[in-house]
Amino acid sequence: MANISSEYLGAAHDFTFSERDFRMISDLANARYGLFLQPSKKALVHSRLAKRLRALNLGSFQEYCELLNQTKGDEEQTHLLSALTTNVTHFFREAHHFEYLQQKIVPEILSKAKAGSPLRIWSAACSTGQEAYSIAATLLSSEPDLRKLDIKVLATDIDPHVIKIARSGTYPSEQIAMIPEKWRRTLSKSAVVENGQIRFDDTLKSMISFGELNLIADWPMKRKFDVIFCRNAAIYFDKTTQARLWQRLAGALSNEGYLMIGHSERLNGPAESAFKSVGITSYQKQPIRNDQDKGDKN
Ligand SMILES: C[S@@+](CC[C@H](N)C(=O)[O-])C[C@H]1O[C@@H](n2cnc3c(N)ncnc32)[C@H](O)[C@@H]1O
Repeated sequence: MANISSEYLGAAHDFTFSERDFRMISDLANARYGLFLQPSKKALVHSRLAKRLRALNLGSFQEYCELLNQTKGDEEQTHLLSALTTNVTHFFREAHHFEYLQQKIVPEILSKAKAGSPLRIWSAACSTGQEAYSIAATLLSSEPDLRKLDIKVLATDIDPHVIKIARSGTYPSEQIAMIPEKWRRTLSKSAVVENGQIRFDDTLKSMISFGELNLIADWPMKRKFDVIFCRNAAIYFDKTTQARLWQRLAGALSNEGYLMIGHSERLNGPAESAFKSVGITSYQKQPIRNDQDKGDKN
């Protein structure tokens, strides 16, 4: 081993990482993004951020903390978030939600849309956008003439890098190779596949608006949603932040609207009684009397 250059060795232990540095990073990640980093995650945080320190040519976590605290630290904080969370997603992930959307929700909401109601669906924490395109493609496969109806999908994430990819609507075509044939056909109807890439057409893209949004900050949206997918982001939050998020999502849903959450997430707090379970990690907001629900849906 002695002959091997140090750059090949112990990559995860290159940088001094004091308890103080760890506390500063975990407090910041909690205050800014709601992330919950227990002390047992210190080694994980070290290994996730070591690459970033190398890219910035820094010698220690203390220097990294100083950078985060500077005025220009704002931009670095989004890199911190990307390093500490994962953007893993794929088309028709947790396919039971899309089955439920297609079979139960779409017939119900389409009849409302045909009667003139606007339909709003939110893919909250959409990462690189595959979730939003899967939702839009599911709607389109049920009603090819969606343009006549007022149906929109809002797709948001805190990370500007993933939103840029999502907006492009272009992905390596191997990403659709692994999904079940039925859903591959659904997606392919709205896309061209060439040069190893799948590119969604304008019909599908025009249904979706992408934007940056921090789930634990204020939400500018005033309209209520008929369906919300908020999957695999709350997993990073502490229980109090999760409970608050579920409650806010309940408030953002129209009466009897639907909420889909990630496979390892559970509703907790007051929102538990606001929803009834309608399937695996799928919930419907309990009907509330008109005088309780003063929310506008215009
Ligand atoms: C694992 S991906 C989930 C993507 C998709 N919803 C799915 O289930 O496939 C988690 C996403 O949550 C986003 N995220 C983490 N904290 C967030 C926050 N406070 N506000 C908004 N998005 C956040 C990350 O940027 C990441 O893209």
